[in-house]
Amino acid sequence: MRVKPIALVTAANKGIGLQIARDLATHGLTVLVGSRKLEHAETAAKSIGADARAVQLDVTNQASIAAAAKRIRNEFGRLDVLVNNAGTSDAGKQGISHAAPLEGSAVFETNVFGVVAVTQAMLRLLGEAPAARIVSVDPSSPQRALFGPVYSPSETALDATTLAFAIEFEDAGADAACPGFTSTNLDSFEGTAERAA
Ligand SMILES: NC(=O)c1ccc[n+]([C@@H]2O[C@H](COP(=O)([O-])OP(=O)(O)OC[C@H]3O[C@@H](n4cnc5c(N)ncnc54)[C@H](OP(=O)(O)O)[C@@H]3O)[C@@H](O)[C@H]2O)c1
Repeated sequence: MRVKPIALVTAANKGIGLQIARDLATHGLTVLVGSRKLEHAETAAKSIGADARAVQLDVTNQASIAAAAKRIRNEFGRLDVLVNNAGTSDAGKQGISHAAPLEGSAVFETNVFGVVAVTQAMLRLLGEAPAARIVSVDPSSPQRALFGPVYSPSETALDATTLAFAIEFEDAGADAACPGFTSTNLDSFEGTAERAA
């Protein structure tokens, strides 16, 4: 019997993450629907179907990340696909000179350090999969400025982080994926691609 691949999508409770989770389930994967609010993960998982399971996961909280990794180890023993989708932007159209200090910024904590923390926590599980994949959701450079002055440098740092994982774990296949300027809460639903919920 074919064993179903297991995917974890961070922030799959809405927007692009929810659409990715739906697509992965449609393609026959068991999808772990991450959300920092468990009830939001449960609602999303229910809307996807029997192949989706809710997982509480705040990418800026080490205890939450460790608990998610432990649960995946106990229930599945491996992870085939990790989609680092959780992200946040900073409001305001002013330039970086007007931004709040970057140190301790929620934007960097989520978009960069959160990806590092989740990926590190899942590496042993990814190592148990026959052909593991790590994907970070990341806009192309011209789009970045649309999401706020700190968001843009954070996504450039995310690119560099993804590249660093790709170099270190050649076999794991770490990549960035750009969904296009998509209509979601992140851009006040002004995006021109309308795929995400
Ligand atoms: N929209 C675009 O055009 C576009 C283009 C390129 C790339 N992206 C990237 O796509 C990803 C998803 O964004 P989206 O457009 O779908 O926006 P969205 O609908 O606002 O979704 C953002 C998601 O990130 C979650 N999140 C924020 N901080 C988190 C944390 N500490 N731990 C866990 N989850 C957290 C949010 O959770 P809550 O619901 O709890 O707030 C929400 O589920 C982001 O990484 C973004 O940079 C978006």
